[in-house]
Amino acid sequence: MTTEKKRYYEPAPQGIDVENFKKVVTSRRSVRKFTEKPIPSDILDQCLDLALLAPNSSNLQPWTFYVVQNPEKKQKIVKACLNQWAARTAAELIVCVARTDRINEMAKLNIQEFPFPEIPPLVKKYYTYIPLNYKTGYLNAIGNFKKVTFKVARTFDKQMPVTAFTPADAKLWAAKTTALACENLVLALRAYGFDSCMMEGFDEPLVCKTLGLNTKEFPIMVIGAGERAEDGVFFPQYRFDRDLFIQKV
Ligand SMILES: Cc1cc2nc3c(=O)[nH]c(=O)nc-3n(C[C@H](O)[C@H](O)[C@H](O)COP(=O)(O)O)c2cc1C
Repeated sequence: MTTEKKRYYEPAPQGIDVENFKKVVTSRRSVRKFTEKPIPSDILDQCLDLALLAPNSSNLQPWTFYVVQNPEKKQKIVKACLNQWAARTAAELIVCVARTDRINEMAKLNIQEFPFPEIPPLVKKYYTYIPLNYKTGYLNAIGNFKKVTFKVARTFDKQMPVTAFTPADAKLWAAKTTALACENLVLALRAYGFDSCMMEGFDEPLVCKTLGLNTKEFPIMVIGAGERAEDGVFFPQYRFDRDLFIQKV
C-alpha cells in the first residue's frame, strides 16, 4: 500500500469579474492634480494591505511604505518631490522604500511564521541560506566570493540563480519586488475610486534625511494619492505598437 503525502490545496477562485478588473487597470492614470477630499483611513489601510500581498522575492518582503502624515515631514517630502503638482495636491504621500537591511530578520520570520505547525527541513534550510543570495557582505566579500563560485559552477554547466554580486544588485533585487507592491497599491486605490501618481522625480537625499532612512533603505518612488481633480489628468493615455514590446519566441 502506498501512503500518498497529503498536499496543501488552495482552489483557484473562479467567476472573477474580468470587466471590472479591466476597468481598474485601464482607468488607472497618473493623476497630477487631486481634490482636497481625504482618503478615509480604513480605505488607505486596505489599499496598503493589498500592496503587501504582492509577489516578492523568496517572501522576504524587502519593503517599507512610509505614509507621511506629519505636516512638517509632508511639506519636506513635497519639496523633495520638486514641488510637483502630484505631490503638492495629494491627500496622501507614500514613500515606497526598498530595503536590504532586514534580509536576515525576514528570513527568520519566514521560519517562525511558517503556516504549518511543522516546518519542512528543506524550507528551514532554504531560509538559513537564502539571505546569502541577496547579501554582498562587508567590503563586498560575499559578493566577490559568489562571483567566483558562480563562474566556476557555470563552467560545469551548472545553472545558477539570480543573485547579488554587488550592493547595486542587492538594491535592484529589493527594488524589483517593491515596485510590484507599488503597482498593487495604485490599482487598489483605483478600485476604491481614488487615484495616484508614482513619482521618481524627487531629491533622494532629502527624502532619506526627512524620514531618517539608513543607508540600506532606498526610496524607489513616492506615490501621491487622492481623489482625481476634474482636470487632474493632463492628456489621454497612449502606448506604442505592441509589437515593439511583445515577442513570442
Ligand atoms: C517609476 C515611475 C516614476 C514616475 N515619476 C513621475 C514623476 O516624477 N512625475 C510625474 O508626473 N509622473 C511620473 N510618473 C508617471 C509616468 O510619467 C506615467 O506613468 C507615464 O507617462 C504613463 O502615463 P499613465 O500612468 O497615465 O499611463 C512615473 C511613473 C513611474 C512608473
